[in-house]
Amino acid sequence: MKIFTSFTLSTERLTLRFVEPGDAEALFRIMSVEETMRYFSSTPWQHMAQAVDNIEQTLKGYLDGAVLRLAMVPREGEHAGEVIGTVTLYAFDLRNHRCEIGYILGRPHWGQRYTQEALKALIAYAFGTLELQRLEADIHPDNIASERLLQSLHFQREGHLRERWFVGGEISDSIIYGLLRRDWEAATHPAQ
Ligand SMILES: CC(C)(COP(=O)(O)OP(=O)(O)OC[C@H]1O[C@@H](n2cnc3c(N)ncnc32)[C@H](O)[C@@H]1OP(=O)(O)O)[C@@H](O)C(=O)NCCC(=O)NCCS
Repeated sequence: MKIFTSFTLSTERLTLRFVEPGDAEALFRIMSVEETMRYFSSTPWQHMAQAVDNIEQTLKGYLDGAVLRLAMVPREGEHAGEVIGTVTLYAFDLRNHRCEIGYILGRPHWGQRYTQEALKALIAYAFGTLELQRLEADIHPDNIASERLLQSLHFQREGHLRERWFVGGEISDSIIYGLLRRDWEAATHPAQ
C-alpha cells in the first residue's frame, strides 16, 4: 500500500490539500445539510463528533494508503481559504490499478464547476502519479447532478446494481460509472 504524505494540487481557482483536524467545523457545515446528503452514502450529520471522527478516519486513511481525500479551498473571492468541499480516491485495488472516486460540495457552491475543476486535477493525479488504469463511481440513480458531473468528465455508464445501499431506512440501487485511463487520455490529449 502506498502511504499518502501531504501535498497540494492547484487548479485555476482552487487549492486541493490534505484534510486537517481543524476542518471539523467546515466539514460539519457541509455534511449536515439535508439536500446535500440526499443521495450520499450516509444520513446528514447531526453532531460535531461525527466530523471529528470522520477526519480521524481520513487521517488514518492517509497513513495506511486507504484514502486520499483532498479539501477544496478557493484561493480568491468571498470564500478564499475556506473548505467548500472534498474530493476523494478510496477503495484502492492497486493490484488491479483501480479505485473509486467520491466528492461532495457545500450547497452554496453548487453549479460553478468547482467539483469538475477539482476532479480533473484528481483524475490526472490518479492516472499519472498513481498509475491507475480505471476509476469507478457508484451513484444513486436519482442523483442527476452527480451523473452529469461524471459524464462531463468522460465517465461511461457501465451498470445498474440493485438494492446495494441501505441508508436512513431507504434501500437504493447503484449506477456504476467507469473511466479508463485510455479514455481520459483520448479525451484530454486527442491525437493530432
Ligand atoms: C454532485 C455535486 C458534487 C456536483 O458539484 P458541482 O460543483 O455543483 O458540479 P459542477 O458545477 O462541477 O458541474 C459539473 C457538470 O455537471 C452538470 N451539473 C451539475 N449539477 C447539475 C444539476 N443539478 N443538474 C444538471 N446538471 C448538473 C454541470 O452542468 C456540468 O456539466 P457541463 O460542464 O457539461 O455543463 C454536488 O451537487 C454535490 O455535492 N451534491 C451532493 C453530494 C453528492 O451527491 N455527491 C455525490 C455522491 S455520489
